[in-house]
Amino acid sequence: MASADLTPLVTGNWKMNGLAVAEGELAKIVNGAAGLKAELMVCPPATLVASFAAAARGSAVAIGGQDCHAEPSGAHTGDIAAEMLKDAGAAAVIVGHSERRTDHHETDAQVRSKAMAARRAGLLAIVCIGEQRAEREGGQTLAVIGRQLDGSLPDGGTSANLVLAYEPVWAIGTGLTPTAADVAEAHAFIRKRLETRFGAEGGRIRILYGGSVKPTNAKELLTIANVNGALVGGASLKAADFLGIAAVYRSA
Ligand code: 13P
Repeated sequence: MASADLTPLVTGNWKMNGLAVAEGELAKIVNGAAGLKAELMVCPPATLVASFAAAARGSAVAIGGQDCHAEPSGAHTGDIAAEMLKDAGAAAVIVGHSERRTDHHETDAQVRSKAMAARRAGLLAIVCIGEQRAEREGGQTLAVIGRQLDGSLPDGGTSANLVLAYEPVWAIGTGLTPTAADVAEAHAFIRKRLETRFGAEGGRIRILYGGSVKPTNAKELLTIANVNGALVGGASLKAADFLGIAAVYRSA
């Protein structure tokens, strides 16, 4: 199956934004999801996972978490197990986001453990990778994301348990985006690594682009080869913007 045939996934990462009142925004996303040739997902803060999952049940919008602990339970104050997200109605969890790697010093090995925990709980793991600005400027991009792929991905990745998100750290929340050629190069590199590691299944694992995706640049970014959807931060907080991005996949 060519990567272009994969069902795209447009995921909103709300980060540490959203109070109960934001359920109105979710309702608008649910209402706007019909007729899209893509899967939609919203990853709200943990406090809203259960209520959002209940509100979106039976709709075309899935709900995900933003992080999980590697263990299923135990003495880890403040942490949330993948099993708890699943129990709350989540279908997926983001792991290894650059903000977790920076704020909480998460290593590739920890990200890998979290991705394994997600699989154990029956959640899709959305594993994030991406280079820092200095690494891009130093010509290290492919070496960095190659190292992150090797270290962060568990064995046995399949399209049912794994999604990759390529998020250049310098493009997150800055309004800056890589050139189409740079996105194409990174995604082709990731695709090749997935196929080398997971065989034919590596050709079916979706690779999302993330970093300053907006309705205005979505078409250019999301029609690049091996870009199978988006991981959207700021623009996912408003239903109109999020749906404006997903509209790239509206059937004609
Ligand atoms: P922005 O879309 O706000 O740049 O954030 C991207 C991101 O980090 C999604 O996980």
